[in-house]
Amino acid sequence: MSRKKIVAGNWKMNKSLQEAKALVEQITNQINDSIAIGIDEVTKIIIPPFPYLDAINTQILNKPNFNVGAQNCHTNAAGAFTGEVSASMLSSVGCKYVLVGHSERRQYFKEKDSDFVLKIKEALNNNIHPIFCIGETIDQRKTENHFKVITEQLTNVLKEFTVAEFSKFILAYEPVWAIGTGETATAAQAQEMHAFIRSIVTDLYDSKIANDVSILYGGSCNAQNAQELFSCPDVDGGLIGGASLKADDFCKIILSF
Ligand code: PGA
Repeated sequence: MSRKKIVAGNWKMNKSLQEAKALVEQITNQINDSIAIGIDEVTKIIIPPFPYLDAINTQILNKPNFNVGAQNCHTNAAGAFTGEVSASMLSSVGCKYVLVGHSERRQYFKEKDSDFVLKIKEALNNNIHPIFCIGETIDQRKTENHFKVITEQLTNVLKEFTVAEFSKFILAYEPVWAIGTGETATAAQAQEMHAFIRSIVTDLYDSKIANDVSILYGGSCNAQNAQELFSCPDVDGGLIGGASLKADDFCKIILSF
């Protein structure tokens, strides 16, 4: 996939179906009004809870450059895994993207690199783009281990994928200390890490694929700071949590390029 401008809204475990549909309606209407200024270049990904994927996919079908994504998928293709959702199920409801490696999955569900590899393989087998999330904790940054941590998180997973497979990836740098805290990485910190991530991808594959991969910033990205973050040469957009739950804020972020 060549490098794109992307804004993805990760709703996490929020909203009723009725609220979800109303929010999508507001977002698509507001963005529709902005298409005249060329905003349809931005790939917009709505990542709601599983039960709303089908309804929201239907709602955005004819909206230019809107897609749905899922917050998770299982490591297996099918079978006796009560309560789980497979990548093929996601594909069957029109899902084009899936989050893998989000820090909340790492922290609360103890998911690890080997899980991410299996989940990404399942996603790719079903033509779903993985949005692979990486990020350091505050302690890791304070002890100046952040580059080492990011190198390990990337290398442990990417080494299992060919260049052709990696060309389907989107990466998201989400410093854990910035997620849901209101504390954002500065534009300089984001740019420094995104450039570093591209250098790791160059080492693992080559400079062309590193230049082509879209790298999103996530962690308290909002309507006020998005423009500065998105103006960094290696920041290709955002993975937005809290601010994606309000139409005005999410649309302002989409309009921040
Ligand atoms: P936040 O979440 O924007 O609320 O910090 C980002 C994320 O977890 O993807």
